[in-house]
Amino acid sequence: MNDFTFYNPTKIHFGRNMVANQLAKSLTPYQTVLVVYGGGSVKRNGVYDDVVAVLQAENKTIIELAGVDPNPRVTTANEGAALCKEHNVDIVLAVGGGSVIDCTKLIAAAAKYDGDAWDIVTRKATVQEALPIGVVLTLAATGSEMNSGSVITNPKTQEKLGWGSPLTFPTFSIMDPTYTFSVPANHTVYGIVDIMSHTFEQYFNNATNTPITDEMAEGLLRTMIEVAPKVIRDPKNYELRETILLGGTIALNGFLAIGSRGDWGSHNIEHAVSAIHDIPHAGGLAILFPKWMKHVIMTNPERFAKLAVNVWHVDATNKTPLQVAEEGIERLSAFWQSLGAPSQLSDYSIDDKTFEQIADHAMMNGPFGNFAKLNREDVMQILRAAR
Ligand code: NZQ
Ligand code: ZN
Repeated sequence: MNDFTFYNPTKIHFGRNMVANQLAKSLTPYQTVLVVYGGGSVKRNGVYDDVVAVLQAENKTIIELAGVDPNPRVTTANEGAALCKEHNVDIVLAVGGGSVIDCTKLIAAAAKYDGDAWDIVTRKATVQEALPIGVVLTLAATGSEMNSGSVITNPKTQEKLGWGSPLTFPTFSIMDPTYTFSVPANHTVYGIVDIMSHTFEQYFNNATNTPITDEMAEGLLRTMIEVAPKVIRDPKNYELRETILLGGTIALNGFLAIGSRGDWGSHNIEHAVSAIHDIPHAGGLAILFPKWMKHVIMTNPERFAKLAVNVWHVDATNKTPLQVAEEGIERLSAFWQSLGAPSQLSDYSIDDKTFEQIADHAMMNGPFGNFAKLNREDVMQILRAAR
């Protein structure tokens, strides 16, 4: 293992009726609440009403920002920051999925900054202070409910960039699996692909002696593989939804990165694709991750073979590690396709006309990837394989 310091201050309230039981207590120190949400799913499924009922019963001053887009925009964060300044907001409360949470994180930081929120994302400005952040999660996917990261799109510059600060961990996150019953099949699948991808990103590292995090990652992947088809058939099953919801948090709250440094190359390429084409994050990952795996397999075929055996139960008898590794990647592609995930960029009508532009975006900070270093030609090859 690498030496490490672990820090995660987010308090999680997990289970049925947690908004009714925990939200008021969580908000005790704060009077004015900016409630941030997306395109209206929370109004249709009753989550918004549950939240507002608590806020009203507690006589909170409610300010609202609706309409956060999937792949959230910096312009929305600027709007939210302006509302915080105008109304002296005490806490920003995200009610939604990763996009709403990520936007909320930038609002909380930009509320304490005199200038464009994009300066924070591009690191032109360092976060010195931020408003507290609360979360009511409605979608199992990003892990943003228990990490400090945020991914923001600037449509003007066609950039989609990740940023984060120790000050942007949510103070608390409420996770009620019943709030995810209404997630449609496609977004349920994207969520599972994202959770598995976060696990892969961290599993592919160059640290030695990582048996505990290896086992945690492999167990999490096996669980997702078992549960995914069941939850698509039975979307209102509490136990299935609770398993996925917890899986999303554990996959990206830092636990799997203890003592190692994950790769994150596939995420970098996907963010470049969705910066330019505005596709769902995990739709892009479903296409790109298996291609990345094939491209870098020779970096450490034994590592891929271990994954194939322990997660996909590939029979390794009389096969080389490379053969076993390749079989594991085939199983992954087939599994994601069986769930209805896309497998080629053409599924989103993306062709090679924008590949150079995507590669430029991905190479913004030079060669990347901690398990396998990728240069521009690597990115182009992965994109061509994904065509
Ligand atoms: O906007 P509404 O109407 O709320 O609908 C959303 C949206 O259309 C809908 N939805 C959410 N909860 C629902 C629901 N529909 C019915 N019932 C519910 N309970 O689902 C759609 C997708 O929501 P979104 O928040 O965009 O999805 P997700 O959680 O996958 O977030 C994706 C964003 O997170 C970033 C991605 O790049 C992308 O921008 N990521 C953030 C990370 C982080 N902060 O740690 C890491 C990830 O790797 C990722 O990059
Ligand atoms: Zn992701």
